[in-house]
Amino acid sequence: MNCRICNTTLKRFLDLGWQPIANKFLKADNLAKERFYHLEMFFCPECYTVQIGQCPKKEDIFNDEYAFFSSTSEYMKLHFKKLADEIKEGKMLPRGGFIVEIGSNDGTFLKNFYGDNHLGVEPSTNVCLDAMNDGVICLNKFFNEEIADRIIDIYGKADVIVTTNCFPHMIERRSVLKGIRKLMKPSGIWINEEAYLQSIMEKCSYDQFYNEHVYFSSFASFKKVMKMFGMSLWRARLIPVHGGSIRFYTTHEDIAPSNDLLMHDFERTENLNVFHRFEHFAEVVKMKRKRFLNRMFALNGNAVGYGATAKSTTVLNYCKVGTHLIKRIYDTTPIKQGKLSPGMHIPIVPYYEFERDNPKDVVLFAWNHANEIHEKGKGIRWILPI
Ligand code: TYD
Repeated sequence: MNCRICNTTLKRFLDLGWQPIANKFLKADNLAKERFYHLEMFFCPECYTVQIGQCPKKEDIFNDEYAFFSSTSEYMKLHFKKLADEIKEGKMLPRGGFIVEIGSNDGTFLKNFYGDNHLGVEPSTNVCLDAMNDGVICLNKFFNEEIADRIIDIYGKADVIVTTNCFPHMIERRSVLKGIRKLMKPSGIWINEEAYLQSIMEKCSYDQFYNEHVYFSSFASFKKVMKMFGMSLWRARLIPVHGGSIRFYTTHEDIAPSNDLLMHDFERTENLNVFHRFEHFAEVVKMKRKRFLNRMFALNGNAVGYGATAKSTTVLNYCKVGTHLIKRIYDTTPIKQGKLSPGMHIPIVPYYEFERDNPKDVVLFAWNHANEIHEKGKGIRWILPI
């Protein structure tokens, strides 16, 4: 298999088995239609991007039943508010300027820009409608170069482009990057936030690999890919969301070079352009699976789960943990409740039953929200799945 970005032959480092679409929670009468995809992880020795092998069709993931709503976490709402403040206070968006968010979900971020020229681009109809109903201006489309041309024709070029946990999802990366470059004004900036490959490596959080996330970037890979597409990585910051993320600030290539001192730190501390790091990671993943299964078998089917995350789909299907080991998973998202988890078909139940049931041993699948969730239960033995 060749790299989707630079066409170099990829090197495989991890096989997570056959996996269903990670966020596709199912009604009990719909199980026969479920499809599985081989989740293998690859490293590109040329541009250093990590990417998955087989991908479902994007329309099968992002449609009118998309189960991820940005607004489910109060912490994330605050996080987006702070990013909006940074954009406003840092004068990145001039008076009368234009901001575009790609992957605008239910509008949680863009609601901070009511009254400004803004546009969300979101392919999943259900979340997009939620945003529009709340007065956020949106285009219900998959972003690519062609859509960038259309936006430019109608609205003009953007001062600020934002992608948060969306850029890794967009399989047509070449077209997306050409589109972003075109859409960005000569003085414009693109702010992209995504799970940081270095954090995934450090925590060995292999559950962040699922078929919605096609690509994973290190600082080195992002910088290299930007150059390939006539852009320049101008600044980077670590962000404490989604288990450790990185925020990349990108400009056109001909803008003044960055004088951001932290850039050197990333360069110095990262070592993610060598394949053996990934081979070692794969060995640790196997150990983690063993440890998790031992713990589950010791509890003899008396464990429950908290947070029906996409991440849980990877762990449950890789470890083959079904209702014989985890009875149910509690979650606050209405569209997931009353359905079954992808692949292993564990019932998803409303969060309010958690207090009533008062479970003792709970697998925290939403470990990235641990601070927010730990407040919810007393006397619980929380178990990490990874
Ligand atoms: P998320 O962090 O988006 O993880 P992923 O990208 O792997 O799906 O999902 C968090 C899930 O946890 C989401 O389904 C909502 C749920 N949740 C709760 O049930 N209770 C909570 O207090 C929080 C913060 C999240």
